[in-house]
Amino acid sequence: MRKSIVSFLVMSVSILIQYQSLFAQQKTSLQKSYHNFFLIGTAINAPQIQGLDSKASTLITNEFNAVTPENIMKSEVIHPGWEVYNFSLADKMVEYAQAHQLKINGHTLIWHSQLPAFMKHMQSADSVRNFFVNHIETVAKRYDGKVFSWDVVNEALEEDGTLRKSIFLEKLGASYIAEAFQLAQKASPNAELYYNDYNIEQPKKRAGAIAIIKDLQAKGIRIDGVGIQGHWRYNKIPFKEIEQSIIEFSNLGVKVMFTELDLGVLPNPWDSDAADVNMKATYSAKMNPYMNGLPDSVQMKFTEGYESLFKLFIKHKNKISRVTFWGVHDGQSWLNGWPIKGRTNYPLLFDRNYQPKEAYFKVIALTK
Ligand code: XIL
Repeated sequence: MRKSIVSFLVMSVSILIQYQSLFAQQKTSLQKSYHNFFLIGTAINAPQIQGLDSKASTLITNEFNAVTPENIMKSEVIHPGWEVYNFSLADKMVEYAQAHQLKINGHTLIWHSQLPAFMKHMQSADSVRNFFVNHIETVAKRYDGKVFSWDVVNEALEEDGTLRKSIFLEKLGASYIAEAFQLAQKASPNAELYYNDYNIEQPKKRAGAIAIIKDLQAKGIRIDGVGIQGHWRYNKIPFKEIEQSIIEFSNLGVKVMFTELDLGVLPNPWDSDAADVNMKATYSAKMNPYMNGLPDSVQMKFTEGYESLFKLFIKHKNKISRVTFWGVHDGQSWLNGWPIKGRTNYPLLFDRNYQPKEAYFKVIALTK
C-alpha cells in the first residue's frame, strides 16, 4: 500500500515537471511572435544595465531583441566635461547586449535636451562647434560595430515643421543636421543612421521631417531611417496620421521605426501630445486619478489601443523595421515623473509587478 502511494507521488511529480518544462518551452514572447515582422525593443535604464533588477532582466532577455539606452548615452552622462567622457555605463550596456543578442540603438548624438552643464549656455559658436564635432567623432567612433544604429539627431523640429530654435541651430546654422549625419557616417560607418522625433506623424511636423530627409538625400548624405517616438495618449492615438506617415516616409526609401512607444493614461495639463522633456506642471490630486489602480473601462480602452496600433504596424510590416517601448514595465516609465512629478501611470505592456497585461496577450495574438 505504502509503496503504491510513493510511486503514485513520484509519477505525479514527474508529470508536473514535464508539464512545466513543456510550458516553458512553448512560452511565447513578443520578440518571438514578431520575429518575421520587425524588431521589438525596449528602453533600458542604468540599474537594468548593471544587472541590479533581475526581474526586469528576465523580461528584457525573453521579450525583446533590441534595446535603447533610456539616458546613459545622452551627452550629459557620456560627455560631462569639455574633455571628459564617461563611457562606463555605455560599455557595460554593450557587454550586456552582446551577451543577450540584443541590437543596440544609440540614443542620441545631437539633442538640445539633457546637455552637459558646461555647454548649455555656451555663447561662442566656435565652442559649440568644437563640442559638436568632438562629441560625434568620439562617441560614434567608440561604438562603431557595437551599436546597430544611432539616433543621430533627436527632436530638431518645432510643431509647425520649422527647425527648432536650439543652441545648435542658433550657433551652427541649419546645415548642422547634415553635418551631424556626415560626421556620424565617417566615425561610425557600420551603424545605421536615423532622424528621431515626437509628433512627426502630424502633417506639419511630418513635412518638416520629410524636408530634412530629402535635403540629406539631395546632398548625397546617408540616412537609413526615421524614428517616430510614439508617446501617445491611450484614447487619442492618431491612427490616420500614423498610417499616412508610415507610407510617406517609406516612399522616401528610408526605414520607419516606432522608437519610444508608450500609451499614457493620465490627463495632460495642456491637452497635448508634445513630449518635450523640459515641459513641467505642478502636481494636484486631480491630475493623478489612478493612484490605487486603473478602472476596468480605462484598461479595456488601453488594450484596444495597443491592439489597433499593432494591427496597423503588422499591416505595414514591410515598411517598419523596429517597434521599441519606452521602458520595460510601468514602474520604470518616465511618464510617472513627466510632465508632473509623482504620478502613477500605466503606459506599457508589463505592470509594476513585471506581469504581462491583457494588452500583451492581444498584441501577441495578432501574430497568430
Ligand atoms: C526621457 C527619459 O525616459 C527620462 O528618464 C529622462 O528623465 C528624460 O528623458 N524623448 C526622448 C527621450 O527622446 O530621450 C526621453 O527620455 C523622452 C522623450
